[in-house]
Amino acid sequence: MSLTLNRYAEKLEVPGIRKFSNRISEFPEAVNLTVGQPDFHTPAIVKQTFIDAVNDNYTTYSHNQGLPELRRAVSQFMADKYNACYESDCILITNGASEAIDTVFRTLLEPGDEVILPGPIYAGYIPVIENMGATVVLIDTTVNQCKVTPEMIEAVVTDKTKAIILNYPNNPTGAILSADDTAALAHYLAQQNFYTISDEIYSENTFGQPHVSFGSFPELQEKLLLINGLSKSHAMTGFRIGFCMGPAELMAHITIVHAYNCICANVPAQHAAIAAVTTARDAAAVMNEAYIVRRNYCMERLSAMNMRCIQPDGAFYLFIDIQPFAMTSFDFANRALEQYGVVIVPGSTFTAAGEGYVRLSYAYHQDVLAEGLNRLEAMVNDLTR
Ligand SMILES: Cc1ncc(COP(=O)(O)O)c(C=O)c1O
Repeated sequence: MSLTLNRYAEKLEVPGIRKFSNRISEFPEAVNLTVGQPDFHTPAIVKQTFIDAVNDNYTTYSHNQGLPELRRAVSQFMADKYNACYESDCILITNGASEAIDTVFRTLLEPGDEVILPGPIYAGYIPVIENMGATVVLIDTTVNQCKVTPEMIEAVVTDKTKAIILNYPNNPTGAILSADDTAALAHYLAQQNFYTISDEIYSENTFGQPHVSFGSFPELQEKLLLINGLSKSHAMTGFRIGFCMGPAELMAHITIVHAYNCICANVPAQHAAIAAVTTARDAAAVMNEAYIVRRNYCMERLSAMNMRCIQPDGAFYLFIDIQPFAMTSFDFANRALEQYGVVIVPGSTFTAAGEGYVRLSYAYHQDVLAEGLNRLEAMVNDLTR
């Protein structure tokens, strides 16, 4: 008898970003521009609240849905910041947005279902969708500055469409949607017979126009699952706190799936999260000031190299067009690492729609960015010689 694995798990590969960042140790002098987390410290009040929670013995399980006090605080935060109104029984606290994504898809999907993905997009969705035996239907949004439109969606909807996942501000492109575009999409999606899942984890990281949440449109609420969290907004990636919001009846099912997976989110981290969304609710403002300076610096350097990128108005990434070099994004990133000592992520990591691009994260100190861009410039000069 031969022992087998689940057929979908067996196919899973190490995520493309990790494939590159895991190789950095082979190149000790390499400048790493791959990481998708803030290079700032967690606010002091949040750290202290975590420590106090441990010392005060808040080290046991919480309610499956999360601490009631945290859910009330998140409800207030979402209403004040985004006019997204959810009662606390419509909010689930998860172990990061990652767990929210996994739990939502495991609650909704069945084999044969189709999920629409406007790409380039975060690489974390596809494995979860495919693990459920569902199929990804990709839309290439690079033709429209990475902004999906109702017409693009309409062209791929079938009677098997179960959901669409949206991610604005977008990883890996930094694209955001205007208020008008968001309203038009919300109106279209409200008429459709499938769920909208909106991952708004970068909602606090916008550099001009504030984020407009899909949660602010009452007509869409019955079909919307809204995902957010504190990893990016509060530099809390290691705390693992996410939020999932939706209609009460659906959230009750999602909570049961979550409960069988992990019982509840990390409890001291839930206490720290209360401080994050109350006392430290505007923590992202300081980070955004730095991101704007860095983004502008990187764009000036790229433009001096005659390189073009998708207009980045949020998150902390640049998605750089490498099509003029007629090589795959994997080969480009590999050469950048092996011959020039700068680590960037191949665009193909973010679905096939990302081929022809590489992603650079500017969640790094200005000096690190300067050195990384010097190395990239050396490569570009050699390629265009
Ligand atoms: C779009 C997007 N969603 C979700 C996540 C995961 O967030 P969390 O740390 O809250 O699990 C990331 C992390 O990079 C991301 O870019």
